Amino acid sequence: MSAVPDRRAAVIAGLGCHLPPDVVTNDDLTRRLDTSDEWIRTRTGIATRHVVAPGVATSDLAVEAGRRALDSAGGGADAVVLATTTPDRPCPATAPDVAARLGLGQVAAFDVSAVCSGFLYGLATAAGLIASGTAGRVLLIAADAFTTIVDPADRGTAVIFADGAGAVVLRAGDPAEPGAVGRVVLGSDGALSGLIEVPAGGSRQRSSRTAAAPGEEFFRMAGREVYRQAVGHMVASSRLAAEAAGWNGPGDADRFAAHQANARILGTAAGELGIPPERRLSNIEHVGNTGAASLPVLLAQAAAEGTLAAGHLLLLTAFGGGLSWGATALVWPDVKPC
Ligand code: UT7
Repeated sequence: MSAVPDRRAAVIAGLGCHLPPDVVTNDDLTRRLDTSDEWIRTRTGIATRHVVAPGVATSDLAVEAGRRALDSAGGGADAVVLATTTPDRPCPATAPDVAARLGLGQVAAFDVSAVCSGFLYGLATAAGLIASGTAGRVLLIAADAFTTIVDPADRGTAVIFADGAGAVVLRAGDPAEPGAVGRVVLGSDGALSGLIEVPAGGSRQRSSRTAAAPGEEFFRMAGREVYRQAVGHMVASSRLAAEAAGWNGPGDADRFAAHQANARILGTAAGELGIPPERRLSNIEHVGNTGAASLPVLLAQAAAEGTLAAGHLLLLTAFGGGLSWGATALVWPDVKPC
């Protein structure tokens, strides 16, 4: 009889990502916005980003990334969790549609809304589904068509945000295995929810029975204040996650994967954590800020390139609207992204 662990951990068993094929360069943006390639590169680290073509929705990105993660894991899933800020429709959730299109049948499927922290909130949710026995294998997808909510005339956000999807398959396993998800440190500060918001389209605006003011249907971000908050919370939650994993500190990390918000934020946070440049994973130059998708896309690309390899001690952190943030530390498993 095989030994049964006293706690079921969620273990990463598959990985995949998908970026829409259309690419927008900084020079493309300068043709319609008062900005420059030099400003965008030096202030954000972004040179190009992928964007959805007209008619392409979040579920289309999610299905592609989900299929790749399922192929990578070599099996199905009995639950689908979709982290997104850009659902196909305000109601219902997008995850059931994605599950059906992936041929997963009538499995549990729902969305998680935690903006750019969505992947880590989704990871904690998926781990809970597995720990409770509610699911045996969870497909966690993080997908955002962020350019569909960004104001194309707002140079503060239009140059940063982009589209994409990443996914992992989690299976039940032993907490001591590589790839096992341990404690996910999560936090929020709703007192500052107005720093990142789409003001219109929800019950607050709809119940007023007045039309939304022009532009209120778009995403807004108070960039400078968000920047300050992002560094503080990513650093603090990373320290807690390293401690929870039994590390000496965040400096033990072989690889540091942070939500790709802005290259300067990442540099500052990693510096404060004592993580040298060669251990920092980054794809922001050619992917931009893809919201919830940012972390799993980064992991899939790094694993494909070999900069993230089996056995690496990996520290993950994210920050976004809500405000919301999170971090976790784990040993990277032997998974081949598709
Ligand atoms: O993903 C979720 C979390 N998001 C983040 O963590 C993003 C956090 N924030 C940021 O990444 C940065 O704050 C931004 C990239 C959004 C802005 O960079 P910044 O260095 O904080 O610039 P700023 O907002 O302080 O603006 C500096 C100047 C302003 O001009 P004045 O007032 O100094 O004359 C802006 O109007 O830069 C101007 N500016 C631009 N100029 C050229 C803002 N956006 C642009 C632009 N091109 N695209």
